[in-house]
This record gives sequence, structure tokens and C-alpha cells, in this order.
Amino acid sequence: MVTAYKHEPFTDFNIEKNEQAYKDALSYVKGELGKEYPLIINGEYVTTAEKIVSINPSNTKETIGTVSKANETHAEQAMRAAQAAFKTWSKWDPAARANVLFRAAAIVRRRKHEFSAWMTYEIGKTRKEADADTAEGIDFLEYYARQMLELKPGVPINSRDTEFNQFHYIPLGPGVTISPWNLPFAIMAGTTVGPMVAGNTVMLKPASNTPIIAYKLMEVLIEAGMPNGVINYIPGSGSAIGDYLVDHPQTHWINFTGSKEVGTRIYERAAKIQPGQQHLKRTAIEMGGKDTIIVDNEADLDLAAESILHSAYGFSGQKCSACSRAVVHEDVYDEVLEKTRALAAEAVVGNPEHHNTFMGPVTDQAAYDKIMEYIEIGKKEARLVIGGDGDNSSGFFVQPTIFADADPDSRIMQEEIFGPVVAFSKAASFDELIDVANNTEYGLTGAVISNNRAHLEQAREDFHVGNLYFNRGCTAAIVGYQPFGGFKMSGTDAKAGGPGYLLHFMQPKTVSDQF
Ligand code: NAD
Ligand code: ALA
Repeated sequence: MVTAYKHEPFTDFNIEKNEQAYKDALSYVKGELGKEYPLIINGEYVTTAEKIVSINPSNTKETIGTVSKANETHAEQAMRAAQAAFKTWSKWDPAARANVLFRAAAIVRRRKHEFSAWMTYEIGKTRKEADADTAEGIDFLEYYARQMLELKPGVPINSRDTEFNQFHYIPLGPGVTISPWNLPFAIMAGTTVGPMVAGNTVMLKPASNTPIIAYKLMEVLIEAGMPNGVINYIPGSGSAIGDYLVDHPQTHWINFTGSKEVGTRIYERAAKIQPGQQHLKRTAIEMGGKDTIIVDNEADLDLAAESILHSAYGFSGQKCSACSRAVVHEDVYDEVLEKTRALAAEAVVGNPEHHNTFMGPVTDQAAYDKIMEYIEIGKKEARLVIGGDGDNSSGFFVQPTIFADADPDSRIMQEEIFGPVVAFSKAASFDELIDVANNTEYGLTGAVISNNRAHLEQAREDFHVGNLYFNRGCTAAIVGYQPFGGFKMSGTDAKAGGPGYLLHFMQPKTVSDQF
């Protein structure tokens, strides 16, 4: 028997002991920077000539580590290892598979601040954002382990007098996890260990900006007793080994989280039957967002401004769930805009290692350029209220930026910017607020700030997003509490951290025994 699932509590860094523990972890990780990391294929450590260099986005002179880079030959070796390991791993007692995850969760919990410190250096997360990422990773390990235990006996079905019928779930086979850099521990871990605890074997291709935190998961799983070949760690170019593995006839499933451009490409390629392929590939494709906070005319306006601030600028707006559109009733528009501006003006942007930093850097030069380009577009399309500046002299820093009076059809209201930029738009009625919120190809998250119960009930029906929140921000879903995934072009809505997640990577089998 295991205890009931509860999410990992967040750390209060205002408590001196916690702050000190995180600072000690920063010092420890600082001493670890600059090391080399191999691929891990079938439990063997493989060093390649080609490398990926992971850089600190707050200080581009600092190398976090150098990681071996897999090519197609390594991807093929990983596939062979995954095929071989599947023969035994798929037959392991599901409880024994779950135990690997329970042990891994315990190990990460012991090293919690160290994992967060790695993310502060590798991707520029403040202690609060990094702590939430580590906690979410622990949650996925704990939650999916329990889900496997629940699925283990199968589901009761009827039998007639002369038969005994059974219905249970079996794994699919080897598959590929392709993960993004923005939740480099939580999403990478969740999208890997979910299919794995279900009995599948995995080729893990983490994002090239964050390969080292993914290596740390491998360390933990190996220590927790994961057999060789069950997860193969193969960082590499998305277009090279990504395409190779997506197209591979022996790939049974693809678990992707990332941009719409790459996600739709994978979805299309995975549908094509390759020579020798004897199954249809399953895909879980979770993509971008253009998420809206609606503010009604009867609402707590301080709560509205706080919610917009944290949802728009947490981790520099680099969340699929980030608020990039504030759609506000005209009666309270000026007040909400001013309150949000005042909060943004106080937000400290800088080195995420420091206690008071609210917002660290954006991830790399390409992200910086894209965001600054959208800021220029915004200046033409709307009214710049605050921000609009960037500094990439030593790291990739962008000021929290607000545009007002944006047309709902403008590019800054339609396209995913993935940076600290929020556009305000005005509407005259609650119906219109909902219409503007739904006027996007995405459908991931949304929030409504309102004291009008009838309006909240209307939004419950009509606001078409996978994760809808009332009187809070639109980020920070918790595993097992707010299963996460979006509608429309936000993806297949696999609902990470939700009750049916493992079933995406399993198939039900009926056995009817006549006697
Ligand atoms: P990305 O699409 O650029 O990269 C994601 C992964 O795909 C990386 O590992 C990358 O190397 C790989 N890749 C690139 N080209 C590939 C190809 N041709 N074949 C296979 N793999 C390939 O996305 P990103 O910049 O890492 O992440 C940001 C995006 O992720 C944003 O759009 C964000 O909204 C989205 N996201 C969505 C969710 C969600 O749950 N819906 C969560 C987090 C991030
Ligand atoms: N699951 C993450 C959130 O809700 C992306 O913010």
C-alpha cells in the first residue's frame, strides 16, 4: 500500500534555513560547472566528437557543461537498446516499475535545492520558479507511479457462466520523448517517466538548451534501479535525430512538448506508415499558447493586476501557460492597466541567483531577437506603456513590457511571443470579453477575474481552453490537481498530471477464456 498522493510543497525562501540551503546548493553547483557529459545508451556512457555546449543565459561567458551530441547512428543504437530492454521491462511487475519512480522521487527530494540550482544556472530560473519546476518533477514521479498501481489489475468487465473475461492494459513498445527547455526538469521528467512506468522503453531527446538537468534525471533513475536500455539519453539536433526517430518504423509512440511548428511537423510525419511498420504510432503533442486573463467590471482589481503580473512575467513569460493577453472590461480598463504598470515598474530584472530578482533572462540569443522583434511590431500595432527595452551585453535580459489598446486581430494578440510581453485589449460586455479571449488558434489556459457568479458560470461553458482558472492567474498547474493540456492548436490535450495520462502510452487487451 502507498500513501495517498499529495503535491510536493513549495519552499518558502523567506525562511532563513531554506534560503541558506538554496545558497549552499548554488555554491555546490557552481563548483560542478564546466564538466563533460556523455550519452547514455543501454546503460553505457558514450562520448562523441560533436558536442552541445550549455551556456548560462544570465552570463553567456559561463559554460554550464559540455554534452555529447547524438547523431543518427547513436539514435539507431538507442532504438536497438530500447527494443531489447522492452522485452523484459514490459514484463516487470508494474509495482516494481512504480518502485523505481518512488525511489527516484525520494532521491530528487533529497537533492531538491541542487536540482533547482542547476536550473538557475542552465536556464535562468529564479529560486521560486526553479523550486516549482523541481517540485513538479517530483510530483510527476509520485503521481504516475501511483497511476500505474491503479491500472495494474485492469478494469472489471462482465463474464457469462462459461467464460472468464479480463480487460487490462499493456505497454506499446519503444518510443520517443522530445522535451522543451522551459520546464526542463518537470516536463522532461514527466513526459519520460509516464510512458516508462507504463512498461515502455524510451529514447529521451531533451532540448539542446537544457541537456544537463536531463542528465541529472538519468543519474537519479539509474541510482533508483532502472535497468539498462529502459531510458536512453540522446541529446542532439531536433531536425536530425528528431526526424530520424519520429520516422523510424519501430517507434511506437512520440511524446512531444514544444512549439506548434515542430509539433505539427511531428504529427504529420508520425502518421505516415514506413516500410516494415506494423502498427500505428501514437502521438501526444503538446504545443504553444496565447493565453488570456479576462477582467470583468465587477472584480477585485488588485487581484487582477497581481494575476496578470505573475502570469505574464513569471520565468520571463516563457511558459506555454503565460498570460500574453489581458482582455479587460472598459469600465475598469484604465485602472487595471495602471495597477499592472505600477507592479511591473517595481519588478526587479536581473541575475536569478539573487533573492530579490523577480525576472531572470530569456533563454538564448534567438529568443531575445524574436522577443525584441515582437516588441517592435507591438510599437507599431499598439501603445507601449512600459518596458520595451532589452540588454544582451552579458546575458539575455528583456524588461517586462505592456502594450495597451491592442486590436484583437493584431499580431501581438495572435502570435505566441514567449517572452515578457503582455497586450491589453478592451471590451464593452462580458460576451465580448469571452469572444476576444476565444479569438485565437490556441486554447491552452485562461483565467477570469470576476465577482459575478453568473459570468463565471458563462465562462465555464464558453471560454474554450484546456485549463481555465477563476480568480487567480493562468499559470502554475499542479500535477494531480489541475491536469494540464490545451485545445485547438495547443495540442492533443494529453493532460499531463491527469488521471488518464498513462493510457496514452498503453493499449487495452481483452482476454476471453471459455471453459
Ligand atoms: P521547440 O519546438 O523549438 O523544441 C521542442 C523540442 O523539439 C526540442 O527538444 C527540440 O530540439 C525538438 N525539435 C526541434 N525540431 C525537431 C524536429 N524536426 N523533430 C523532432 N524534434 C525536434 O520548442 P521549445 O522552444 O523548446 O519550447 C517552447 C515551446 O514549447 C513554446 O511554444 C511553448 O508554448 C511550448 N510548450 C508547450 C507546453 C504544453 O504543455 N503545451 C509546455 C511547455 C512548452
Ligand atoms: N504546467 C505549467 C503551468 O501551468 C506550464 O504553468
